[in-house]
Amino acid sequence: MFENYSAPSELIPSDPRFGCGPSLIPVEFVQRLADTGVHLLGTSHRKQPVKNLVKEMQEGLRKYFNIPNDYTIAVGNGGATFLFDMIALGIVEKKATHFTCGEFSEKWYKSSKAVPWIEAEQVSVDFGKGITPTNVAGSDLIACTLNETSTGVQLDSIPEVDANTILAVDATSGGGQCPIDVSKVDMYFFSPQKVFASEGGLFVCIMSPKARARAEKIAADKSRYIPPIMDWLVCLDNSDKNQTYNTPAIATLFFLNEQVKLMNTVGYAKVQEQSQKKADLLYGWADEKPYLSCYIQEPQYRSIAVATIDVDDKVDVDGLLKKLEGDKIVYGIDAYRKLGRNQFRIGLFHNIKIEDLEKLTKLLSNAIESEL
Ligand SMILES: Cc1ncc(COP(=O)(O)O)c(C=O)c1O
Repeated sequence: MFENYSAPSELIPSDPRFGCGPSLIPVEFVQRLADTGVHLLGTSHRKQPVKNLVKEMQEGLRKYFNIPNDYTIAVGNGGATFLFDMIALGIVEKKATHFTCGEFSEKWYKSSKAVPWIEAEQVSVDFGKGITPTNVAGSDLIACTLNETSTGVQLDSIPEVDANTILAVDATSGGGQCPIDVSKVDMYFFSPQKVFASEGGLFVCIMSPKARARAEKIAADKSRYIPPIMDWLVCLDNSDKNQTYNTPAIATLFFLNEQVKLMNTVGYAKVQEQSQKKADLLYGWADEKPYLSCYIQEPQYRSIAVATIDVDDKVDVDGLLKKLEGDKIVYGIDAYRKLGRNQFRIGLFHNIKIEDLEKLTKLLSNAIESEL
């Protein structure tokens, strides 16, 4: 199926990258990085040019999310997956409760479960369903995922937690775009290769004073061995100085900073509004076509960052995507590999233009209808 399909030129998007991460990095950012010539790449992250870049990015995020001055913007190497372990080792005191609804939230739960001196509880729903986290008496950390990238569900709300409880949100694929008041979260963390249009390998963790105090309290308990690379005090000390503990990829910091600057020209509220319009377009398309359906049944949990759309089994989605990728027209819209569904999973990230999403929906329909 689709081997001989030829896309009409008017339906070809201006950029083929619709993947859910790594996501579209604007070509202008790459050009701007090249324009720094001999003054940034290949220089030390302990010297002013890179430190200034990190500072600008941290301050830009503070402005974008309207975060109080006593919150810390921590940065380090290793991405969100690294933080799963760093939080389990250095933030959870006795018990973490994880609200899980897909691959990434489960992965984080498994990190906590593997630590012998803490208890990890899992509250889960089947893949494809949304979950609303709550406070849990007796848990000192509540873990939830802003946007479950594997299935395309986002949180509909966040809970108010006890005075001694840390609310930690993995915002990797929804951070900056899915609605949430970051100043009501104790740890809001992400890798920058999704909405923030950068490369992988880095983490950003926005921490409330309460979360910082918890990190300091656990670090003072010398009975826990925590490797220096995962030591929160080392991370915080470096972040306060606009540095990372070990050597970062400067290009990643550069692209992230460019994206933060770009998003600040639009503003958090407007970015959410624009994302909602993209989501309405995609889910509306799925409702309209008889061979499509929204994978997420409960509308309040449908993500405005990652849209998952089931396709009738009569359509060979793998064959279609292979053809479109081969022709360099559309990249990265296959279902999450472990989900194993006949599905499109489409990024709605800030840099993906609504005009291109319109073309994409028309292109996919054109191809499918040419074969049905
Ligand atoms: C929700 C979520 N959490 C965590 C991760 C892991 O991020 P990283 O590969 O940067 O560690 C991902 C990656 O796709 C994700 O989507």
